[in-house]
Amino acid sequence: MLNVALPKGRLGEKVYAMFEAAGYPCPSIKENTRKLIFENEEKQVRYFWVKPSDVSIYVERGAADIGVAGKDILLEYEPDVYELLDLDLGKCRMAVAGPKNFYDDGEKTLKVATKFTNIAANYYNSIGRDIDIIKLNGSIEIAPILGLSDVIVDIVETGTTLKENDLEVKTDILPISARLIANKSSFKFKGEIIECVLKSIEEQVKKDD
Ligand code: PRP
Repeated sequence: MLNVALPKGRLGEKVYAMFEAAGYPCPSIKENTRKLIFENEEKQVRYFWVKPSDVSIYVERGAADIGVAGKDILLEYEPDVYELLDLDLGKCRMAVAGPKNFYDDGEKTLKVATKFTNIAANYYNSIGRDIDIIKLNGSIEIAPILGLSDVIVDIVETGTTLKENDLEVKTDILPISARLIANKSSFKFKGEIIECVLKSIEEQVKKDD
């Protein structure tokens, strides 16, 4: 069996559709149940839905042979996995955002609220800016509004959340997209099937281009 960790949610549904079109269907996954694990005996594939930020943990520890994780998670947690392919899905960007009237004059330590402390630290380190990181777990946009931080480092997809909270992008840090990842020892011992999946998924990515 090839164990595949899919990110629960809208992105995961698109990813599953890609696997299905690539020749690895599992019809039971579309039944509206609360089940989290689905198997197709014939194709020797088992899918399971996990929280998007947990996919790389399952893959790194070998509970999943392959999976799909955002580049944001891979950069933030640096899991010891192989990154096989950019799926060109779930595209967004990591950016610095803040109130429209905020201008960083570089004089005081900058207060930065984020879920992505490593990405933020690396970015500000690369430009030699002193910061005070405030780690939050969600609704990051509130922090500068309430004066908890000067700016935020967060994911921007459509830009709606920023706009509706009177914030704006100050600097783009990185483009983000979903990546196919593999467990290192699975890549060795289940190499044949992983290569087959990789090839067929690659064709799907090209087709969708
Ligand atoms: C993410 C991100 C932004 C929002 C951006 O939040 O943290 O809040 O999406 O999307 P937009 O540019 O299309 O508005 P998510 O939904 O993951 O929830 P969170 O508050 O837990 O971070």
